[in-house]
Amino acid sequence: SWQYSLRPHYLREYIGQDKVKDNLEVFIKAAKLRKEALDHVLLYGPPGLGKTTMAGIIANELGVNLRITSGPAIERPGDLAALLTNLQERDLLFIDEIHRLSHSVEEVLYAAMEDYALDIVIGKGPSARSVRIDLPPFTLVGATTQVGRLAPPLRDRFGVICRLEFYKPEDLVLIIKRTADILDMAIDDDGALEIARRSRGTPRIANRLLKRVRDFAQVAEAGTITASLANDALNRLEVDSCGLDRTDRRVLQVIIDKFGGGPVGLDTIAAAISESVDAVEDVYEPFLMQQGFLNRTPRGRVVTDAAYRHLGLPVPSEG
Ligand code: ADE
Repeated sequence: SWQYSLRPHYLREYIGQDKVKDNLEVFIKAAKLRKEALDHVLLYGPPGLGKTTMAGIIANELGVNLRITSGPAIERPGDLAALLTNLQERDLLFIDEIHRLSHSVEEVLYAAMEDYALDIVIGKGPSARSVRIDLPPFTLVGATTQVGRLAPPLRDRFGVICRLEFYKPEDLVLIIKRTADILDMAIDDDGALEIARRSRGTPRIANRLLKRVRDFAQVAEAGTITASLANDALNRLEVDSCGLDRTDRRVLQVIIDKFGGGPVGLDTIAAAISESVDAVEDVYEPFLMQQGFLNRTPRGRVVTDAAYRHLGLPVPSEG
């Protein structure tokens, strides 16, 4: 699809995440030299940082097929068996949201990962028996926003564990320029930097904001996206100077207004702003913590002095 064409297809096109990229490059080369399946890879980190993109790149670099599925989509062991028995040697199976696999599926996955074998129980009751099906050597790439929720036996079966981090503005600038080029849209350095600074360290958001800024630019008949044009458009999109969107600000505001700045539990925050606990934990909290606006304590979440200042509120500890 058109969206897919924005994604880089090879490591050399992938911008940022240098540590992950450099290590993967070695592991991929070594696996190819040995003509073996690459060891299983776990990618974790907040949404939108390129986990699915990276899985596609690994498959391309290895020159193998990619099958994409997700934890919730694999409902029963039989669903997993169907996927695994259709793989060719050294193929890559990508399981997104791998922390949401059911226990029964997880159990089957252990032997598949470790021994390239499927232990399937056929029948029920006294006539039930277990059969072992050999699988071709394959690579599992698992992705999760919640590495802490992975069962240790599952986590331990990944030979390569990569943490994706929020992107630096200078990397996002390069990504935005690359995307603008693909979209055939002119953008100057300051325009790209303005969008980069306000993209929550996340390429998916940078590309989305670029498309919306392009809408404003085209309707205004502006030939080039400049900093001032980007600034106007992003203000109208309610993305603030640090890249916080309305929901980010609501998280901070509700902790301040209703819970005296915290500590307050995650469930309480989610309920107070009518968002899911998963969304608050996966999407909003990591960025607010990275920006230094929110801290996790054993008793709950607390907003920082910087959060009060950012929202233009008096800082209680200074009052
Ligand atoms: N598009 C989205 N993420 C990207 C990345 N990390 N490098 C290049 N292009 C991208």
